[in-house]
Amino acid sequence: MASTPDPLILAIDQGTSATKALLVDVSGAVVGSASAPLATAHPRPGWVEQDPAEVWESVRLAVANCVPGEDAGRVVAVGLSTQRESLVLWDRVTGDPVGPLLGWQDRRTADRCAELLAQGAGPLVAAVSGLPLDPMFSALKAQWLLDTYDPDRRRSRTGELCLGTVDSWLLSRFSPEHRTEIGNASRTQLLDVRTGAWDDRLLELFGVPAAVLGEVTPSDGPFPAACGLAPLPDGVPVRAVLGDSHAALFAHAGWRPGVVKATYGTGSSVMAVVDGHSEMEHGLCLTVGWQHGGQAPTLALEGNIRSSGRTLTWLADLFETSTTELLAAAGSSSDGVAFVPAFGGLGAPWWDADAVATVSGLTLGTGRPALARAAVESVAFQVEDVVAAVEAVSGPIGTLLADGGLSRSATVMQAQADLSGRAVHRADEADLSALGAARLAGVGAGLWSVDELAARPRNSTAFRPTTSSEQRRAAQAGWHAALARARAQPLADFPADTPQPASRRLP
Ligand SMILES: Nc1ncnc2c1ncn2[C@@H]1O[C@H](COP(=O)(O)OP(=O)(O)OP(=O)(O)O)[C@@H](O)[C@H]1O
Ligand SMILES: [Mg+2]
Repeated sequence: MASTPDPLILAIDQGTSATKALLVDVSGAVVGSASAPLATAHPRPGWVEQDPAEVWESVRLAVANCVPGEDAGRVVAVGLSTQRESLVLWDRVTGDPVGPLLGWQDRRTADRCAELLAQGAGPLVAAVSGLPLDPMFSALKAQWLLDTYDPDRRRSRTGELCLGTVDSWLLSRFSPEHRTEIGNASRTQLLDVRTGAWDDRLLELFGVPAAVLGEVTPSDGPFPAACGLAPLPDGVPVRAVLGDSHAALFAHAGWRPGVVKATYGTGSSVMAVVDGHSEMEHGLCLTVGWQHGGQAPTLALEGNIRSSGRTLTWLADLFETSTTELLAAAGSSSDGVAFVPAFGGLGAPWWDADAVATVSGLTLGTGRPALARAAVESVAFQVEDVVAAVEAVSGPIGTLLADGGLSRSATVMQAQADLSGRAVHRADEADLSALGAARLAGVGAGLWSVDELAARPRNSTAFRPTTSSEQRRAAQAGWHAALARARAQPLADFPADTPQPASRRLP
């Protein structure tokens, strides 16, 4: 009798800048990986779009390059993690996208957001969704897509159109079923984070008919089986779907209390599971981390930073160099230069839609090393502001777990340790989002249990602070002064007839 080949899990992480695929064996080791880049378009200032068809193609390409044909038959389960909050509209019958994917960084709904805030919608939205009313989340994007492509909502109400997050969109390539995984759904700002159901008040506020949304589904399914992912045979079960940040927390075994992680990707996310908290506090969001095994959803506290890796790629593009070369050119000091990368406002813990991106403290002697260093420090300072907010809720955080593309940079990790005064443990495997999806998929496939995952060693590299607390205090004071300059300030010192900027929002 032929022996059964060792099973493999295929994990796909559909990120903002690339789709990554990993093959994981029964021991949990990564035995194959591939990546396919993904373009982003900025057709107008503040607009951030991707092509839904290209997103799907990048998934197909990453899988094709990751799975050797001779091993395709060994894949027993697929796990999926996805960029969150980004939104796609498509035709249920043809499956064709209707309009572009609106990216999570997209700001075209900022004015509508300001209007809703002025009307006093913020407290209800925050209380129900766990998220501050902000253009980053999907609800305002949903309204824009429907206003543009289905203004009378006829096709939405009749179910001819489907609206969904990226997990929804990819699952729709497998079957016409329309599903959204609960963690991703909790980032739309249309879900009641405590009941795990779409909320009628939020749907009405944003003008989204319930019929256009997918069925909210636990992170372990049921999901349609994968198809169209050659060389994988059609019909391999999808055993896990998670938001990318949630998947990274899961990979860090972040269901244990006290585990706090920061993912350094295009943006950053600091996240920790939380017990019994029911309010947003200290500018942090309340989110469904995951739901599996027939249990209640696990809630997490999260703070999102809009621009971290993106700050480095932006500056590298400006200097017509690569991120790696820019990081190598970073000096040991920013020489008083502070970079506040509020491209389109600031996320957690400030949630200041009107903050502007600034570089301050320039002198005629400022050059690339100081600017690169200031960009690196902007990542670390922003993460530290959120970690401090989490600490205010959860108690002391001695160690920060790190993952994501930009965590590959030892310069960034050391800056984080030095500016935070905390040990930073960087996961040796960068693609923890994919790995988290693989691990939950393996639970679903019966390859291992959650307890076995908890007991597994997680290899990491430690970065320890080399600064004194006085140095850190001085550095943070400089950063907060720069933040104050970048943030919306009333023009109190100007004559009364000076025009005030529209829609200024104070913290
Ligand atoms: N080897 C590296 N060294 C330094 N920085 C890197 C490296 N690889 C990637 N990056 C940085 O990491 C960022 C991309 O990270 P990652 O691939 O985790 O993001 P993503 O998954 O596409 O985005 P997100 O998770 O935010 O949706 C890039 O913006 C780049 O600045
Ligand atoms: Mg990612």
